[in-house]
Amino acid sequence: MKTKRMTVTAAVTPTHPAIREAAARLRAGELVAFPTETVYGLGANGLSDAAARAVYAAKGRPSDNPLILHVDGRAMLDTVAAAVSPLEEALMAAFWPGPLTLVFAKTAAVPAAVTGGGDTVAVRAPSHPVAAALITAAGVPIAAPSANRSGRPSPTDADMVMHDLDSRVPLILDAGPCTVGVESTVAACADGRITIYRPGAVTAEMLSAYAPVSIDPALTGSGVPKAPGMKYRHYSPSVPVTIWQGTGEAVARALREDYRDDRGYFVSEETAALLPAGAHTFIWGARADRQAMARSLYAALTTLEGQPITEIYAEGVAATDLGAAIMNRLVKAAGYRIKEVE
Ligand code: TXA
Ligand code: MG
Repeated sequence: MKTKRMTVTAAVTPTHPAIREAAARLRAGELVAFPTETVYGLGANGLSDAAARAVYAAKGRPSDNPLILHVDGRAMLDTVAAAVSPLEEALMAAFWPGPLTLVFAKTAAVPAAVTGGGDTVAVRAPSHPVAAALITAAGVPIAAPSANRSGRPSPTDADMVMHDLDSRVPLILDAGPCTVGVESTVAACADGRITIYRPGAVTAEMLSAYAPVSIDPALTGSGVPKAPGMKYRHYSPSVPVTIWQGTGEAVARALREDYRDDRGYFVSEETAALLPAGAHTFIWGARADRQAMARSLYAALTTLEGQPITEIYAEGVAATDLGAAIMNRLVKAAGYRIKEVE
């Protein structure tokens, strides 16, 4: 299969030729990679069991790990969610469209391949205009995991999708880099409380304005995660990653003292300023700029692994606000290799 790449701008509508072609392919059961505000998704008709199964095959993903359904708004949710509580309504009114996925009891319309055989379904309404136009044009919810080979960093631009899925997906819609850079928050509501299964850009701090929030204990290392995807090897580049954790100054000092030119460094500009000229760095921006760090994370891992290096050192940040999502991904990419410095 030859992969076709079509460039689209964010100003696109459901009747744009590239969107119409992509929507027709989805309806015919083909896969289409498309941009969202978080990461690129590998889309399939979310009401077709066969199409959803093709997603697992293309990614090399275990089939017990369920997919997220992408809708173009609140109305389409009713085709796939059996019941919606007042708290869920409030969260959707506040955060949709955007990077918040909610887990609902599913309707009979949702095929088993989407849910991994379970009776719940994860749904979100992406805010990226290309994603929204594509869902509307397709007229069905789109099942889409991140458009990477299973275990690899998620793609935040079309080149990264090509790297992992060239010849495995017929069409990629290319709208440039994603603005958020880490996957959506996955959460479920029960008894007026919110549980976060996967941290994302809709943070625990933001959600706690609506109801008490707890974090799935499995995310911090105990028990089986509620989001099945959390238990697998994840986000890993082809070279080992180590996180350096401590105050910014302590980390910068430690990285300089321990410097080697066969290492790649994912660091803030403050830390990069202390490394020798010619170091293999990927700089996210100012140390305090969490948005820039989230946006850069996966591109940094895939760019640095392509350089003449044997391992990657990454500067850690506090796991609060957006830092919780960043560190959740980075810790998995690092296989829990963390160095604490003072
Ligand atoms: O930002 C995103 O969410 C991206 C873009 C493409 O929208 N998609 C994405 O999909 O990250 P994926 O398949 O890579 O991750 C889906 C996560 C997995 O951790 C999965 O286990 C969890 O959502 N999940 C899906 N359905 C679930 C369910 N019914 N209950 C609990 N967790 C679920
Ligand atoms: Mg993924």
